This record gives sequence, structure tokens and C-alpha cells, in this order.
Amino acid sequence: MPNLWYKNAIVYCVDVEKFMDASGDGTGDFAGLADRLDHLERLGVTCIWLNPFFPSPNRDNGYDITDYYGVDPRYGTLGDFVEFMHAARDRGMRVIIDLVVNHTSTDHPWFQAARSDENSPFRDWYVWSKEKPENAHEGMVFPGVQDSIWSYDRTAKAWYLHRFYDHQADLNTANPAVREEILKIMGFWLALGVSGFRLDAVPFLIDTKGMKLEPGSFDPYSLLTEMHDFMAWRRAGAVLLAEANIPYSDAPAYFDGGDRMNMIFDFMLNQHLFLSLARGTAAPLRHTLQNRPRPDGLGQWANFLRNHDELDLGRLSIAEREEAFAALGPDASMQIYERGLRRRLAPMLEGDMSRLKLAYSLLFALPGTPVLWYGEEIGMGENLALPEREAVRTPMQWADEPNAGFSRAATANLIQPILADGDFGYQNVNVAQQVREPGSLLRSITRLVQTRRSTPEIGWGEWELVDVGRDDVLALSYSWRGARVVTVHNFSPEPVSFPLEIDGIDRFEPLLADHDAQSAILRGETLDMAGFGFCWLRCDGPRK
Ligand code: GLC
Repeated sequence: MPNLWYKNAIVYCVDVEKFMDASGDGTGDFAGLADRLDHLERLGVTCIWLNPFFPSPNRDNGYDITDYYGVDPRYGTLGDFVEFMHAARDRGMRVIIDLVVNHTSTDHPWFQAARSDENSPFRDWYVWSKEKPENAHEGMVFPGVQDSIWSYDRTAKAWYLHRFYDHQADLNTANPAVREEILKIMGFWLALGVSGFRLDAVPFLIDTKGMKLEPGSFDPYSLLTEMHDFMAWRRAGAVLLAEANIPYSDAPAYFDGGDRMNMIFDFMLNQHLFLSLARGTAAPLRHTLQNRPRPDGLGQWANFLRNHDELDLGRLSIAEREEAFAALGPDASMQIYERGLRRRLAPMLEGDMSRLKLAYSLLFALPGTPVLWYGEEIGMGENLALPEREAVRTPMQWADEPNAGFSRAATANLIQPILADGDFGYQNVNVAQQVREPGSLLRSITRLVQTRRSTPEIGWGEWELVDVGRDDVLALSYSWRGARVVTVHNFSPEPVSFPLEIDGIDRFEPLLADHDAQSAILRGETLDMAGFGFCWLRCDGPRK
């Protein structure tokens, strides 16, 4: 297996407008992000994923685009983007960007042309119906906020499809002109140096979208193959990372051995990981790992705890979801879209440092590529006074300074209020303070990142579950080029002790643990773990 960079990457997602404001107008920008690359470098990030930064009316955090070939002026110019890319490359960091081509903003000139003239070449870029489709009120992505997936446009005198908000009209991806344009957009950003794309809403992108097609005349997955082929020709080593909340049975077709998607976010694992945290047992996570397809070739799962959206628990059973809600977000104000929680991790775990460190150790120890959401490294909280998913998108908390050091604008002019109250307010949770404090979450996560980067067995190797005879413990073993590593995580609040015995391994040398005292143990000796304890062990047995 070659040393594919993304399999040992540490990905960090940034929303430019919320990260750092250099211009002083109250909105984060590319110059600010470039200034703060020091922080990401210190943390050990190897790949930055940028949320959409294109011109947009910003009614869905930039996922409603009006121009795919530019930078929203609020964040700077295309020149500032290139400067940022240069600064990132200087530090050895790659950049991937969101590619949102399932839909455009209804303000996009394409949609404006399409709606106002039935004969416009852009008419067929979208999905229309003369009559109101029967399924108009089924399959909404944002139930409770969105009541239909088809809306009537008076100018067009027709209904248009929108799987998301009504201001996000779905593109007709069966139209060859649309497909050509998608490739052109990719080519543009690849030429500016990006290392790939986080592909938004893939299951919807490849849906046949109610188009009337002859059976067998159109293979939806072919779009993914085309995109991957094109990308590989334009830039060696570029990757596609799919946002696809799919059942495992669909995964092989999405990966196609890495010839379509290089990586897929593992929503299934994410949800069962949270169920495990809620229950204090590793069983749901272990069961999910057992059923998880192993992508071959170029494919790899991407793991995450939280992201810029709600924590979607829609794939758990109703009873399991209720259990997770009760443990992690009992208040109705924390719940959203009948399936998820609009919370960040630290408040969900009540700021409990041992549970937080366990969760992050797990993120870096699970087979796959870890992805962090900005602010997780310091344990930022959410602001439930903000609408929908905005709750988890408050500005980065740099220091106990006015506006948390995010901006020198007047507080009233900030893009969004800084989280200023309570345990997670910027006075208590910020980068400057955690850099100084030895036991801080930031220091722990930095150490985890460094250990993960020097443990390629996890990202590149083969893995297996180790049975230690307990439900509350998850033990995983990885091997790569003859070297082996074992990680052990205790999900319960109680200390546990058990003999560690793995075929072919004589001695376990500690690499990293929740406490420093751990000494090497020999085959069959007892491993003692604290409640919510974890350890990573290098195995010194005979090489295979
Ligand atoms: C994806 C994004 C989400 C956005 C939606 C519509 O799910 O993660 O933030 O609202 O697509 O583009």
C-alpha cells in the first residue's frame, strides 16, 4: 500500500468568517486565517478543510452559492485566497475546499436566467415541474424549518426542486452542460492549488431527482467517477471527501475502490460512538466497527466527533436516540430536525476533562482519518440563543480579551456574538490560556495529534478488534509493515483491570496514556485503567 497522504492526515475544518478577522470589520477573513496558521501548525494539522467562502447571500452559512469562481468580498479577494494558500503550503499544510454542486442559491445568475426564460439554455440546469409533484412534502432535509422540497416560482410559472432550503435550487446533474461546469469549477480551484474537495450532499447530488429517465439510461454514480477521473488528471494526489450519511451497504459503490470517493465521513460510526459515550460502554461502537466495510485500494473512512452541522442521530433506533438525547441534550432547545443535537462536544460531556480526553483519544485512534471542527481543540461551547445550527458556529475564542481576540471591531458589528457567558465563555475557554496550562485540552489534543502522526499503523495499516472480555472497553490492534500498535479505551467511569494478551506480542510499551505513570507490561500481565482511561501501546513482539 503506498503512503497515501490523506490516510495519515489530520484534517481541521475552518469557517473563514468565524476564525480570525484581520481587517477589523467584524467578519473573519483570509488574511486573518493566514495570520493564525501558527496555531494550526503548533496543533499539528496537516490539512485544512475550508467551509464555503464563495460569494453568497449567506442564508445557509455559504452553502448557497451565487458564484463558484470567486471569494466573497467579506472574506477578502481571490488574491488574499492565493496568499493564504501560499502561507499554508509554506508550512506543509494542504487545503481542501467545500464543493457544493447539488444546488445553487436561487440568487445565482444561472437560476435567474432559468426562471425568467423558458428558452434559456439555463432552464434545463435545474429541475422543474409544471404541476405540483405528489411527493412535495416528503424527504425534507430540515424538517420543522422546511415544509416542502418543491416550491412554485411565479416568474418561471413552474415548480422547482430543492432538497434543502427553498433558496437552494437543485441542479440537474443529468444535464451534460451542468456536469461540464462542475468539472470546470473543480479545475479552477485545483489550478489555484487545492488538494481536493469535501463534496457536499453526495446522496442528493447523485439522486435522479425525479427526472424522467429511461431505465438504464443514466448511471448516477457515473458523475462521481467522472469527477474523480478529471481530478486525478488535473492534480495528482488530490482527493474527494464525501459528505454522505449512508448505510454501510451503499459504501462500496461510493468508494469503488477509491476510484470515486477517496474518503467518506463515517456518520454511522459517529452516531454509535455517541451512543457508546452516552451509555458508558463500548458495545455499540464495537458492533458498528464489526459491520463496517473495509474500503480497499485508495478508499478510507473519515472520522469525526462534531462538525458545523447538527449531531445527526437519525440512524439510531428511536429508543437509542431518546437515550442519547437524554444523556447528551435533554432540553428541547438543544434538539433539532427531529433527529439531532445542535451542541458542541464539550458541553455535551459537561466539560468533564477525562471524558473529553477519552473522546479525542478515540477520534485519533479509530481506523480512518480524523477530522476536527475549529474550536474543538479548546473545548468551545454552543450558543443556543442562535438559530438552528448557528449555535455551534460562534467565533473562535483566542484570548480573554475584548471580542475574545477574534476582531477589533465594535462588538455590535461582529458577524455573530462571541460566546461570553458561563463555563464555556471566552474568559474561561480560550487558546492563549490553554497554551500556557499543562493539563489543558489543547495540550492533550496536540499530544494526541503528534502521536497519531507518528503512528502510521493506524491510518495506513490493517486493524482488528481485540477481545478483552469486557463490554466497557474497546481495544484495537493495528499493523503496518511489520510494526504493531494497540489502543485501549475505557468507556466506563469505573477503573478496570484485565490481563492483556494478544497472539504474537510479548511486550507492550506505552506510547501515550491519560496518565504518565504507565510502565511497559509483558504478555498476560494486568493492564490497569482509570475510569474513562485510555492508552496507546507499541508492541514489541516478534515482527510478522
Ligand atoms: C450539507 C452541509 C450543510 C448544508 C447542506 C446544504 O449538509 O453540511 O451545512 O446546510 O449541505 O448545502
